[in-house]
Amino acid sequence: MKLLVTGGAGFIGSAVVRLAVARGHAVVNLDALTYAACLDNVAPVADSPLYRFEQADIRDAAALKRVFETHAPDAVMHLAAESHVDRSIDGPGTFIDTNVTGTYTLLEAARGHWLQRGRPGDFRFHHISTDEVFGSLGPTGKFTEETPYRPNSPYSASKAASDHLVRAWHETYGLPVVLSNCSNNYGPYHFPEKLIPVIILNAIAGKPLPVYGDGSNVRDWLYVEDHARALLTVLAKGRAGRAYNIGGGAECRNLALVETLCAILDELRPDSAGPHARRITFVEDRPGHDARYAIDATRIREELGWQPAVTLEEGLRRTVSWYLDNQDWWRKLQSRAGVGKRLGRAG
Ligand SMILES: NC(=O)c1ccc[n+]([C@@H]2O[C@H](COP(=O)([O-])OP(=O)(O)OC[C@H]3O[C@@H](n4cnc5c(N)ncnc54)[C@H](O)[C@@H]3O)[C@@H](O)[C@H]2O)c1
Repeated sequence: MKLLVTGGAGFIGSAVVRLAVARGHAVVNLDALTYAACLDNVAPVADSPLYRFEQADIRDAAALKRVFETHAPDAVMHLAAESHVDRSIDGPGTFIDTNVTGTYTLLEAARGHWLQRGRPGDFRFHHISTDEVFGSLGPTGKFTEETPYRPNSPYSASKAASDHLVRAWHETYGLPVVLSNCSNNYGPYHFPEKLIPVIILNAIAGKPLPVYGDGSNVRDWLYVEDHARALLTVLAKGRAGRAYNIGGGAECRNLALVETLCAILDELRPDSAGPHARRITFVEDRPGHDARYAIDATRIREELGWQPAVTLEEGLRRTVSWYLDNQDWWRKLQSRAGVGKRLGRAG
């Protein structure tokens, strides 16, 4: 199968590209190479005859038309997005442009290609989204595919809008779409502005380890390679028009997560002056910070036979080891705009 993967130079997109090529799929990676992109993420497959790269913006209809005509993909996996909640608080406009207008432009390009090929029923437009579209949970309960949308940040609102567009293109035009909404990912190649890499890199540098608010926010963590496997499963077996929730079944409070990372670092990179956890520092909370996310992944498990393979403890250990072993990768990214700065304060 020939896949057009958007955002394939980002964190999750590159995991999808690496896995898809390893499984023998032809992959066209379309990415605008924003501040969040890094082509080193796909270096392991860059020389494969199955791999192609197209630098293009999903808001550029003419460029998309050319890419569809040149490569004639059998499916689109759409991951390109602005993805950092804190940046969406400081500059929501880019999130609306890329996540909403960009998804609309890509849908139209995909629809043109699908019509031109005679509306093949096995074509897929797979939209990759987040559980943040469902808003925030109280202490109990989980998000199912039927949970009403209630996004709270400019990021999650823009993703919610894009989900609605994708569903509408199925209902109105019959485009064979599938959607997936996933919980927080972590693992190798995670851009050094997100919580887990920030903690690891600050610990290595002997800097304070920032925890927003009182650290009580709960996230359901999924190892990125498990997500990539789930996405290829949804693409291959998911029913057109249907949404699938994807989660790790690994709920953890932010403070407990940071403490676990500190314990792993104490083992793998001890600090002679004392335990890493002594540097944990509580900082001003993110405005509108959702209290808890948790995924009910029954549908993808029972209908499609997917479940996570990597436990949170094992995944965090692999992640810390990866950042310790790949310092060239992240040191280059630390000079990019905004990295290492506190973003997304109430204004
Ligand atoms: N990171 C998570 O925990 C998580 C969880 C669930 C869903 N998601 C979703 O998965 C997708 C990928 O997330 P990620 O964490 O890998 O993001 P990322 O920020 O690491 O990567 C995004 C990629 O998209 C590219 N991009 C941005 N704007 C573009 C544009 N206008 N045209 C073309 N390319 C553009 C960037 O250059 C980058 O390579 C996003 O849609 C996100 O909403 C992420």
